[in-house]
Amino acid sequence: MSAEPSTAKAPAAETALATAALGSGQMFDRIASRYDLLNRVLSLGIDRSWRKRTVRALALAHKPGRVLDVATGTADLALQIAATHPACTVVGVDPSANMLELGKRKVAQRKLASRIELALGDAQALAFADDSFDAATIAFGIRNVPDRLLGLREMARVVRPGGKVCVLELGEPRRGLLARAARFHTHRVVPWIGGLLSGHREYEYLQRSIAAFPDAKTFASMMEQAGLVVEQVRPMMFGVCTLFVARRPERIDAASGPAKLEGAS
Ligand SMILES: C[S@@+](CC[C@H](N)C(=O)[O-])C[C@H]1O[C@@H](n2cnc3c(N)ncnc32)[C@H](O)[C@@H]1O
Repeated sequence: MSAEPSTAKAPAAETALATAALGSGQMFDRIASRYDLLNRVLSLGIDRSWRKRTVRALALAHKPGRVLDVATGTADLALQIAATHPACTVVGVDPSANMLELGKRKVAQRKLASRIELALGDAQALAFADDSFDAATIAFGIRNVPDRLLGLREMARVVRPGGKVCVLELGEPRRGLLARAARFHTHRVVPWIGGLLSGHREYEYLQRSIAAFPDAKTFASMMEQAGLVVEQVRPMMFGVCTLFVARRPERIDAASGPAKLEGAS
């Protein structure tokens, strides 16, 4: 009996990796082992405070609840939700098995496995019943979803009427001197450090996808088109990152009202 070395990869698997669509779960499988480090370095650690703000915006109070974290990756937001709300359970879904594997280790280390469940899943086809969560989040993930409107509609569908849907996403600041500095960071520093630390050119994708993401007003309109009522659009760090806070109305087709665009903080 002959055995292949365990490190050998089938040619078909190699081809699949080489052609992995940018932003897909397969692409994140490739960079998973460096993802957390890169996140901290590239955002200078500020990504943590952005996630904390997202959790606060869920306004879950201190009663039992069930929260869905879409594109959960290595589970940083799922962990933050569970740590902040001891009465809540969290389900995190993501198409990248490698990102989830790292997430599961972090969940186990923090002894939160009884309250956080992580599973493979695509934002565009959530495997959950209507109205089955009290709130849903997606952090730095909607940019990667090929059909964003469908992803948002799915989040609106699985959240109960009145429940929050929060989206945290990077964008490109468009005006002012500091915006220019932020653009330099995204266009030059991010791909350079990303390439240096990860050894993968995928981080160039990060810069391109951020630049291509719609402005806050346009994205808020898309959330409303998905049947949500946008309550707050909150730019952070001169618009480098934006938190969109929305609510599912009592009737899913009854969304209305302009989003409140706050000043940068
Ligand atoms: C930049 S990471 C964000 C991870 C995590 N939410 C965080 O805050 O660090 C983007 C994630 O989106 C996931 N993703 C890509 N396509 C997706 C899709 N169609 N549905 C759900 N998640 C997707 C990737 O696998 C990856 O884990």
